[in-house]
Amino acid sequence: MTDARDAAWKKLDLHPDPRLQAMFAADPDRLAKLSARLELGDGSEDAPGGILFDWSKTHLTDELMTDFEALAEASDFAGMRAKLFSGEVVNPTEGRAAEHTALRGVGKDASVEEADALRRRMGLLVNAIHDGALGDVKHLIHIGIGGSALGPALAVDALARDLAKVDVHVVSNIDGVALEEAFAACDPQTTMIAVASKTFTTIETMTNAASALNWLKQQGVDDPSGRVVALTANPDAAVEWGVDETRILPFGESVGGRYSIWSSIGFPVAMAIGMEEFEQMLAGARAVDEHFRDADGRANLPLRAAFADLYYSRIKGAQTRAVFAYDERLGLFPDYLQQLEMESNGKAVMADGTPLDGESAPITWGGVGTDAQHAVFQLLHQGTRLVPVDFIASIAPGDMLDAAHHRILLMNCFAQGAALMAGKESEDAARAYPGDRPSATILCDDLDPATLGALIAFHEHRTFAAAVLLGINPFDQFGVELGKQIAKQIEAGDVTFDPSTQALLTAAGLSG
Ligand code: F6P
Repeated sequence: MTDARDAAWKKLDLHPDPRLQAMFAADPDRLAKLSARLELGDGSEDAPGGILFDWSKTHLTDELMTDFEALAEASDFAGMRAKLFSGEVVNPTEGRAAEHTALRGVGKDASVEEADALRRRMGLLVNAIHDGALGDVKHLIHIGIGGSALGPALAVDALARDLAKVDVHVVSNIDGVALEEAFAACDPQTTMIAVASKTFTTIETMTNAASALNWLKQQGVDDPSGRVVALTANPDAAVEWGVDETRILPFGESVGGRYSIWSSIGFPVAMAIGMEEFEQMLAGARAVDEHFRDADGRANLPLRAAFADLYYSRIKGAQTRAVFAYDERLGLFPDYLQQLEMESNGKAVMADGTPLDGESAPITWGGVGTDAQHAVFQLLHQGTRLVPVDFIASIAPGDMLDAAHHRILLMNCFAQGAALMAGKESEDAARAYPGDRPSATILCDDLDPATLGALIAFHEHRTFAAAVLLGINPFDQFGVELGKQIAKQIEAGDVTFDPSTQALLTAAGLSG
């Protein structure tokens, strides 16, 4: 760590710690200073609305943000951000750029052009299938794992609940139960299979893909291979596996798995909601990219979110951060964020290989409101741990029922934030609430494709900003490799393991 970064981190540790309510009382402008709207459209009637971010119930202050801005400068945040958007290497351990923003139209010209061409190709295939060129297609079994599954699962669940053009099932787990469930829900005669894998080597995906192809064969489907589409950065491997080149939708090596929903990995999303709507998702993300690229200091909202995240995790020792979506359609958002944040920033070394001198990413967890209120909020209100919370909600309802549902949903969301902050005194200790517990609220006008795209991009940039301030490379993930290697050794049967592992293998009949 440079002296300047070291000094900036130390200064952040010296701030007084007034209670949230006292800060509101002391500064009548607190709400205005700590909240901001991000507009996603041009304000015209059909344009998407925007998102309101409110950090006023966190402990961020003017002074704290000034010191975080100094840390950003000492960490060369502007330089790293410029590298990200210009397609330079930002993943030094793998010598790669990270060009997910180019997929949304913001990046190096050549990368944007290439991404546009690949997306047009995907659009031709999606539209052809919707128009019946491959026969009657009613179902799509999308097979992938990690970044090749979490984005599609989230977007399909959020955006295609009642009006899916094609019924999409995302299967990730190697546990055959997952694939069997998808088989049970699909008519093989009208089912297509999408095999999604950046590397086209992941054992879970390749095993599931082979079983799905077999299923089509066993069910007597005409030309089963003709029903398979490959979404990959390794098209040669897909050809070798037997997918026809016309049904391989490639994407670039510089697109990381957990940042790949914008590439052809988004094929199932376009199949479910239509290509135009998928493009709207990209447009929402693009609005956030432009904001993140152009805004500086605290005015940069993903950077400001990273200030709050790091204040709690690094300075105040919070071990987790919780995300509660008060929206059934965002039920998979915490899962998505877990991979994005923990696979990106859960590291113990800095980008230059030196040990990190503090905590890295907190554990991301969460769920949906109001369900979570009746399960885990006890700990948030009265437990001993500091857990900063993000609430996410949409002003427009997702349902068509009596407005009471959505009203009660939103009232509960806002009540929880108010209760966490205010607390309540009581002579009976068991009934006392300490309060002063931080939360931020992300309130969308509506949860349309553009807004979902913007929400995801906002969190991508928040994660990147946190990584830069921590000095971490967020774009590699070597931590997932060792377990994969040991699984291979078990399969090969040529290694003796520790007594516990050996006994487990024997008990399960897996040892040779
Ligand atoms: O094991 C982790 C990981 O490499 C993720 O980063 C990635 O999203 C996932 O596996 C799937 O990889 P692939 O798309 O190459 O099958």
